[in-house]
Amino acid sequence: MGDTVTVHGQLTGAVVHGAGRGRGLGFPTANVAADPDSRVPPSAIYSGWVVRHSTGAVHRGTISIGSNPTFCDTADVHVEVYCHDTSDEFYGERVGLWFVARIRDTVKFASPDDLVRAARQDVLRSEALLASDRGRRVLTDALAAYERTFSA
Ligand SMILES: Cc1cc2nc3c(=O)[nH]c(=O)nc-3n(C[C@H](O)[C@H](O)[C@H](O)COP(=O)(O)O)c2cc1C
Repeated sequence: MGDTVTVHGQLTGAVVHGAGRGRGLGFPTANVAADPDSRVPPSAIYSGWVVRHSTGAVHRGTISIGSNPTFCDTADVHVEVYCHDTSDEFYGERVGLWFVARIRDTVKFASPDDLVRAARQDVLRSEALLASDRGRRVLTDALAAYERTFSA
């Protein structure tokens, strides 16, 4: 496994409908329409925390930012997160994505099976990163920011 790179910051947005392909792959993702004032990190796969603004619930996630080159020929950048610990769908909800680390480049895979194999490894790597000291620190920051923003 290559070195991971630390990534800072939060991206906020609303969960919207994607192409609906993820469920069939076994990796259903929440597609996030990034707020205009959110900085979208460069295309890559990342580990990060998902904060649901309606409830403050936090999920462990693996985030894909990119044009999904395995399936799409367009340059449109999608922000998607696979939550490891819930099968909830949260269409319409607002979320914050708190990036912990960059895992790898986005790849144009030869087949969906190859993508699924890579995604399984990504999730394992992401779990380790979220549980690391840095992952815990980012979670603390995310919870503190939530308290500041949403508590009276
Ligand atoms: C962990 C993970 C890793 C991914 N890696 C790639 C990748 O390297 N290349 C790629 O084309 N798409 C990648 N994707 C994005 C998938 O192509 C995308 O989630 C899938 O096509 C479903 O899209 P939909 O939500 O619009 O239906 C990844 C998704 C996840 C969750």
